[in-house]
Amino acid sequence: MRELSTIQGVNLCSNDYLGLSTDPRLKESLQEGLEYSERISATGSRLLSGHHAVWDELEARFAAFAGTEAALFFNSGFAANTGLLSALLGPGDVVFSDALNHASIIDGIRLSGVHKVIYPHGDLNFLADAMRGHSQTSGSRVIVTESIFSMDGDRAPLNELFQLAARYGAEIIVDEAHATGVCGPHGRGLVAELGLAQEALAVVHTCSKALASAGAVICGSKTLKQFLINHARSFIFSTALPPYLAFQVRAALQLINPMEAERDHLASLSTRLRERLRSEGFDCGARDSHIVPLMIGSNAAALDLAMALQERGFAVRAIRSPSVPPGTERLRLSLTARLTMSDIDRFMDSVLAVSALDISHG
Ligand SMILES: Cc1ncc(COP(=O)(O)O)c(C=O)c1O
Repeated sequence: MRELSTIQGVNLCSNDYLGLSTDPRLKESLQEGLEYSERISATGSRLLSGHHAVWDELEARFAAFAGTEAALFFNSGFAANTGLLSALLGPGDVVFSDALNHASIIDGIRLSGVHKVIYPHGDLNFLADAMRGHSQTSGSRVIVTESIFSMDGDRAPLNELFQLAARYGAEIIVDEAHATGVCGPHGRGLVAELGLAQEALAVVHTCSKALASAGAVICGSKTLKQFLINHARSFIFSTALPPYLAFQVRAALQLINPMEAERDHLASLSTRLRERLRSEGFDCGARDSHIVPLMIGSNAAALDLAMALQERGFAVRAIRSPSVPPGTERLRLSLTARLTMSDIDRFMDSVLAVSALDISHG
């Protein structure tokens, strides 16, 4: 049984990767939005009474950020993915989806009724075979992947995925939720880093994580934007977020641009944590990012370890199956630029102390 609780202690389970959630400049931007907006509520969906010029401006900024022609704001990343995939895909099409894609991608695919091929995580050979097998399909073929995977913290092989898409006449959709603000030039994501934004059918950036706000933006062509305004049910049939929130997102987008020092610090924290975990024999995956999975391997052991670390002052959460495949139950350690090296060292001391009590180890 899952229960809700507020976090206490050193936060190692937050998606506030750049530490902006407590930034006074974001609070000021919200105040500005409150003063500027005549009404405090959107009052309707964007297609009815809920549109406001501030959303147009924000979307133009996001298109420039992502390197695409246009962008469309959704109320959450979950709404963006379900709206996008269920609108674009249908029976007769084929989607190729990484086995570790987020629940919002899975649900969007389910809603669409598309024929789906779930390829083993990052397995390019499997994917190439499957794409070859479906190359005569008359409908569209679409690869969908996260850029930084939310639970494992590893990177999708984006270059190769774009190449496969080009070779087999497929489109590609990339969810940058955990890369937005953190990876790529000025935090513009991994697709922008590769200069491939124009090649993607859609790039999804969330505003709820490093941007410390709410909502998400689907970036792509003007045609895609127009199509989504007319077909994405989570856009059409949902009240828009209040206009003042657009001020906060806009400020966050500006703030992340020069935060190279924070991005570097975050990378150093991640490297330190992984090195220390590995040197003590823990399995924390083969890759490096600000999301560090501490693999435990059973729900009970993951819960016990989480509880023991919480008692020592660290806010950590067990991620259990079925949220992750059985046998890969873990603590998902997500770091933020507000942490210090000594937080990491104190955390490691606690992990070792708890392990010495034989609560859990690998
Ligand atoms: C990869 C990915 N996509 C989408 C979402 C949903 O974003 P939001 O929390 O804004 O609904 C998440 C949330 O954790 C995610 O990890």
